[in-house]
Amino acid sequence: MQQRLRLGLIGAGGIATSAHLPGYQAFGDQVEFAAVADVNGERAQQVAMQFGFARVYNDYVTMLKAEQLDVVSICTPNKFHAAVAIAALGAGVHVLCEKPPARTAAEAEAMAEAARANNRILMYMFNNRFRPESQAASRFVESGMIGPVYAARARWLRRRGIPGWGVFTSKELQGGGPLIDLGVHMIDLALHLMGYPEPDLVVGSTYNHLGTKLGPAPWGPWDWQNFEIEDMALGFVRLKNGASIIIETSFMEHMEPMEEMTLMLSGAEGGLNVFPLKVFKDMNDTMVNINSAWLPVANGHHALIANFIAAIRGEAPPAVTPEEGVKLQRILDAIYHSAETGEAVKF
Ligand SMILES: NC(=O)c1ccc[n+]([C@@H]2O[C@H](COP(=O)([O-])OP(=O)(O)OC[C@H]3O[C@@H](n4cnc5c(N)ncnc54)[C@H](O)[C@@H]3O)[C@@H](O)[C@H]2O)c1
Repeated sequence: MQQRLRLGLIGAGGIATSAHLPGYQAFGDQVEFAAVADVNGERAQQVAMQFGFARVYNDYVTMLKAEQLDVVSICTPNKFHAAVAIAALGAGVHVLCEKPPARTAAEAEAMAEAARANNRILMYMFNNRFRPESQAASRFVESGMIGPVYAARARWLRRRGIPGWGVFTSKELQGGGPLIDLGVHMIDLALHLMGYPEPDLVVGSTYNHLGTKLGPAPWGPWDWQNFEIEDMALGFVRLKNGASIIIETSFMEHMEPMEEMTLMLSGAEGGLNVFPLKVFKDMNDTMVNINSAWLPVANGHHALIANFIAAIRGEAPPAVTPEEGVKLQRILDAIYHSAETGEAVKF
């Protein structure tokens, strides 16, 4: 039997307990729940009790020194992703870090460099790549069914979906608003399905007309008086291969439905909507729409954790690379920079 991987958790909040830890539990015979670190010691203790971690720390540096860990999941606010990942990689630990990779491209580059220097796996939790619709879309694109993809329209919009918990309104802790929180998933998925081409030119706009005012709060009251982020971001990305991505993302805007998450690909031989999965083609002089009759049920977070473990075991290539994280983060930086300066960013 293979030796169990000693797991450390850093940041024991919502996504750690709802997605990461249940994901590792499915590999009970391969993963040992060694230690958990959270600045909120009480929270760390609770999570340790619930999931059976052997030891608890309120400081991840001490944990990395004291425990001989093989893997960590980083589930802290975005501000800490880079420093924590670099420390863990430096301690010879494989890292699964929550999205976004970091707050800026410079931070993501430093993380990628630490992964290379220490020869350790660094993956990001882009769970949407592992949704059954995305997996099927990937197979359709790879088969050539829709031809070369020349345009992607990516949307993740919410009418009033600013979380009232956590630190979502803090620019310092999060790095931004819906673009870095939601848009990051959709831009990653679009780039992934398009073969992760290099960006060429980026134009962006951001707004905060609703977030800075008191209003209906179905996700709990948010700190509208200290609202440092955008509530909507729009971006146009032209890629070096000539293809384009349009991104629209919001925490708040007056719209229907309450939430919309879509990704539409246009290819020379067909079109494809990922959510819900649908393919559009001309066949025998007829325009046809193809629906899926059945898709497997799969949890994207758990499937990505399965890949992370397989990658550490050398049984599969890592599904997400540090270099993809850097490329993605450069696009986010460019959208924010363009929004701030009013200028396009040419790479
Ligand atoms: N992939 C997804 O579907 C998904 C969904 C939600 C959140 N996330 C990401 O997960 C991360 C955490 O989000 P969340 O919703 O779980 O937040 P959360 O506020 O529920 O949890 C964050 C935890 O980190 C702890 N923490 C803060 N600073 C720390 C530090 N320096 N060292 C150790 N612990 C520290 C906090 O005490 C808290 O327990 C964010 O990066 C977010 O973008 C991803």
